[in-house]
Amino acid sequence: MFSYVFMKILETRPRSYDRNINRASLGKVKEVKRQIANLITPGSKVLEIGCGTGEFAGMLVTAGCNVEGFDLSPSMIGVARERIRSEGIGDSFTVHNMGVDSMDMFADRSYDAVVSILAFSEMSDDERGYALENAYRVLSPGGKIIIADEVSPRSGVLRFLHSITRAPTLLVTYLVTSATTRPIGDIAGELAAAGFVVEKCERSQADSFALVVAVKPVSR
Ligand SMILES: C[S@@+](CC[C@H](N)C(=O)[O-])C[C@H]1O[C@@H](n2cnc3c(N)ncnc32)[C@H](O)[C@@H]1O
Repeated sequence: MFSYVFMKILETRPRSYDRNINRASLGKVKEVKRQIANLITPGSKVLEIGCGTGEFAGMLVTAGCNVEGFDLSPSMIGVARERIRSEGIGDSFTVHNMGVDSMDMFADRSYDAVVSILAFSEMSDDERGYALENAYRVLSPGGKIIIADEVSPRSGVLRFLHSITRAPTLLVTYLVTSATTRPIGDIAGELAAAGFVVEKCERSQADSFALVVAVKPVSR
């Protein structure tokens, strides 16, 4: 059993966030980012929700994509801006320091893909709903949304084990950051409720991590 609640602690040191989350997850987070990058057609126009330091966006830019990312944290966005400067990728990667509540600034039907990695579990129910509603609006028909995040295991036994194994980390994280994360109850269901057609929902880590791929139908 594994929990990503400690990521709130790692976010307090944005410069070492990518290295530390990859170490702490034994490479799982980097592996997931590679897996998602392979699901996106090279050259796509992509919106990343909660882009953090821009590590994943950098991978997409290398694949020829044009990425627009946003994140609530000024310090994570600060590191993303340094990446843009140092890698000279300002033509292909743009960032905004904002939360999902400002997503109305993005134009209708203007992206081929929307991606979010480990950000939805930091949001309230209302924020997730608003993010999905807007993701649907900004995607072109046939566009994809891909979300990878911590979720609640479906069986009662696994859910119980997950909550007791994450409790100590949750407590330490809350004491250090006064913040926490919440595993998402039914991310595939929330995507379907927002109008998407769920193509794939791959569960791992004792059913507590999901990689979901969904599509905005062409005829709606
Ligand atoms: C664990 S980090 C993951 C960063 C990046 N997606 C990655 O995988 O490297 C979660 C990020 O989501 C951002 N975030 C949380 N809630 C958000 C919201 N409501 N709007 C925008 N960003 C948010 C946090 O500021 C943080 O940078």
